[in-house]
Amino acid sequence: MEPFVGVASLDEAPDPRFADGLNALCPDRNSEELNEMKIVTVVGARPQFVKAAVVSRALADAGGINEVIVHTGQHYDPNMSAIFFEELSIPSPQHHLGIGSGPHGAMTGRQLEAIEAVLIDEKPDWVLVYGDTNSTLAGALAAAKLHIPVAHVEAGLRSFNRRMPEEINRILTDHVASLLLTPSAASDRNLANEGIPADRIINVGDVMFDATLFYKPRAKRPPELEAGLAEPGDFLLATIHRAENTDDPARMRGILEGLALVDRPIVVPLHPRTRSKLETLGILLPGKLRIIDPVGYLEMLWLEEHCAAIITDSGGVQKEAYFHGKRCVTMRDETEWIELVDLGVNELVGADAQRIAAAIARTGEPIVRDDSLFGGGDAGRQIVSALTAV
Ligand code: UD1
Ligand code: UDP
Repeated sequence: MEPFVGVASLDEAPDPRFADGLNALCPDRNSEELNEMKIVTVVGARPQFVKAAVVSRALADAGGINEVIVHTGQHYDPNMSAIFFEELSIPSPQHHLGIGSGPHGAMTGRQLEAIEAVLIDEKPDWVLVYGDTNSTLAGALAAAKLHIPVAHVEAGLRSFNRRMPEEINRILTDHVASLLLTPSAASDRNLANEGIPADRIINVGDVMFDATLFYKPRAKRPPELEAGLAEPGDFLLATIHRAENTDDPARMRGILEGLALVDRPIVVPLHPRTRSKLETLGILLPGKLRIIDPVGYLEMLWLEEHCAAIITDSGGVQKEAYFHGKRCVTMRDETEWIELVDLGVNELVGADAQRIAAAIARTGEPIVRDDSLFGGGDAGRQIVSALTAV
């Protein structure tokens, strides 16, 4: 695929609104502030809070950088949003757009309009976006059209399944970004195959590895487990939220049947999307599943540390299984984190009940490790170096 014509690159002429000098446009920005780099970070969904926590800390540690956080409001339940800001000490967003849920076009369009207004007002040196949600695409698109350089954290991931909304979001974001910060060798190859110039790509490793290393000592046992829901070491941990599963009744039934075949406690922090889809479809959860509300990141790290194995359709949780030395059964037909499948620690099983149960039965086998896969746990610091080097 050819890069889009008109991609905002670092050496392009700036938007005329910015070209006359910031002093003329915003007289209340004094000369000291003008010397300070300003970065607008756009986040909106749970995995982005985890990733942004790492980079926000690294930006603060570096000093001399003004980070302005914009929260689109894509996730808004307290246990899908506020708990992450509190537990992970992420600075409060200066701009909370409160967009909320909706169909893809409406949600992304409303985010785009609101982010554009913020960017015109803030005039940052960079816009930083994470991952592959609608908030990622809206942030990247708003910035690129204003000729503000975009840095994309977790660039280059591909499932090669264009029916996934995340795949569309990733491809478009990568092709308007000026700086593509990749987590893995596979993502570097994907970007090269799409013709993205090598000088825009920096492999920094995976910020989620940094997050696990930093927050693991602070992991917290969820209250439900203290109440005896399952014994540490004995339970399986499952998460399900991917649209291709929740929105397809046959796949959803296959997954739940597969989990019901397993003769072991399965703790399931249930994503609100899944809960609401099951209610709409009239599908009942098997009584033996230990369903709990979504947990904060510190509680999730505790569950990952103390479970026997992980069953998921999440992107991030597949890697967290590996970071915790646990086998993963992935209820999808493909994955962006292909290196873990190649290493033999993650098995792709789709939504077929028998395959899910059979793969879970194999999770007792010890895992192998390859420490070269996701960087050295200093992705946050490398991202700051990349942003400040330009
Ligand atoms: C989004 C991302 C997905 C990511 C996931 C992380 C897109 C297209 N998808 O999916 O890539 O893996 O976040 O969790 O951006 N809801 C609530 N409360 C909330 C948030 C959501 O009840 O705080 C419910 C609503 O019914 C909403 C549904 O979940 O309609 C889906 O939310 P949405 O943000 O559209 O997508 P996710 O499935 O969360
Ligand atoms: N997570 C969490 N609580 C939960 C489920 C997940 O804190 O109840 C964390 C998980 O540890 C990981 C991130 O959320 O860091 C992954 O987000 P999610 O699975 O929602 O999205 P994906 O990675 O698939 O985009």
